[in-house]
Amino acid sequence: TALTILMFASAYLLGSISSAILVCRLFSLGDPRDQGSGNPGATNVLRLGGKYPAILVLVFDVLKGTIPVWGSYYLGLEPIDLAFVAVFACIGHMFPVFFDFSGGKAVATAFGTILPLGLDIAAILIVTWGVIVSLTNYSSLAAILSVGLAPLITWMLKPEYTLPVAILSLLIILRHKGNIVRLIQGKEPKVSQKNSIK
Ligand code: G3P
Repeated sequence: TALTILMFASAYLLGSISSAILVCRLFSLGDPRDQGSGNPGATNVLRLGGKYPAILVLVFDVLKGTIPVWGSYYLGLEPIDLAFVAVFACIGHMFPVFFDFSGGKAVATAFGTILPLGLDIAAILIVTWGVIVSLTNYSSLAAILSVGLAPLITWMLKPEYTLPVAILSLLIILRHKGNIVRLIQGKEPKVSQKNSIK
């Protein structure tokens, strides 16, 4: 229906608003795509500008996922269409129309899209991510492992959403190709590491 297409487009456009790039402009930190890991996301903004700008980015990027999915749910979209809304929000974040299609990895945005699935799933993912970050200090490793676990947890708690969550997971893991190569080579910057790989 027209409403469904409107929600897909809105999710993509909202996802395309790169909060990392905008927050960095606001705090005069330069373009996050040219510094640190080069990724416009909360982790890299933490490296470049510390915790307050990073928290702003994190909250905004999560909301970019939650708002369109929740909105579409209340507007009566079918579960399959909600899944596409989630994918469009993440595609917007990864390939933003407003920023030369050069975006982030959509970890926070994908998390935002699955928040409405249930606080149990969300809590398990946050705890997994948090434990891995505190043990290793690698944000990417924590993201890759929790994103990899997400379809399994969804299958146990909300099985009807396993396929869309698995698609999101696959997209996000593919976006971490550079991180995976650096992790294997031992060159991945830790969360607290300031020196640039760009
Ligand atoms: O959310 C992105 C994170 O998984 C990796 O970020 O900046 O270390 O490539 P970064």
